[in-house]
Amino acid sequence: MLVDMEGLVQQGSLEADLLQGLDAKRLPGHVAIIMDGNGRWASRRGMSRLEGHRKGAETARLIVEACARLSIPILTLYTFSSENWKRPPREINALMNMLYDNLEQKSELLKRHRIRLRMIGEPTRLPARLSRKLKETEEMSRDFTDMTVNLAINYGGRQEILQAVRSMIEQGVNAGKVSDGVFKKYLYTGDDPDPDLLIRTSGEQRLSNFLIYQSAYAELVFAPELWPDFLLGPLLRSLTEFQSRQRRFGGI
Ligand code: IPE
Ligand code: IPE
Ligand code: MG
Repeated sequence: MLVDMEGLVQQGSLEADLLQGLDAKRLPGHVAIIMDGNGRWASRRGMSRLEGHRKGAETARLIVEACARLSIPILTLYTFSSENWKRPPREINALMNMLYDNLEQKSELLKRHRIRLRMIGEPTRLPARLSRKLKETEEMSRDFTDMTVNLAINYGGRQEILQAVRSMIEQGVNAGKVSDGVFKKYLYTGDDPDPDLLIRTSGEQRLSNFLIYQSAYAELVFAPELWPDFLLGPLLRSLTEFQSRQRRFGGI
């Protein structure tokens, strides 16, 4: 596959070989990632969990850039789940502050690759400063059409389905009108096509409440790397794995 990966892929490297083996016409239209393993990455190095999150944020930046260069139209990143509020307040605060700082720094990347950023999740409960920053960034990037990055923050799949049902009832949607297409419009992901490829890092093999409705036919790839180590090689390996699968959607 011929794409401009200059600066990201060295000639003659393993990554260059993997890239060569990919078929540009069969890349997923929507990749969703459960970015797991920051804490373990840090504790294995005798560092604090926060260091793991910091390193994880760098990886997220690299993966966004790589997907933009590969012309993957939609990337959805599981950043903070509705269940992550169970963590110690110190870790939550640090994560929220980090998210804020990263949004500031990411503006440049969004402009350079014409990426639209969208927050999916429940906007309540987030620090006001972070909510404002998210709105501002969404506003700034709303007309960029090369790629969409969905940041799932305070996101839970069950909560998403329940709020969709509530909105439909409140708006008096006729029961007979509730089709898959209509229902999806009430989900946070709106008009986005379903994820084709769902990756979870760190070797865990569960969805943890991520895109549970939308992932009905996603190809699942469980990568052994902890998220901070999920660099270009592992991404390209996951895409290669995706291209080796035969998708049948119930047919033969
Ligand atoms: C994922 O890494 C990041 C978030 C959930 C915010 P973890 O923090 O879950 O890392 P582990 O799973 O404890 O290693
Ligand atoms: C899922 O990871 C949430 C994110 C990556 C944001 P968790 O680490 O929270 O999931 P569990 O608790 O292992 O299922
Ligand atoms: Mg985890």
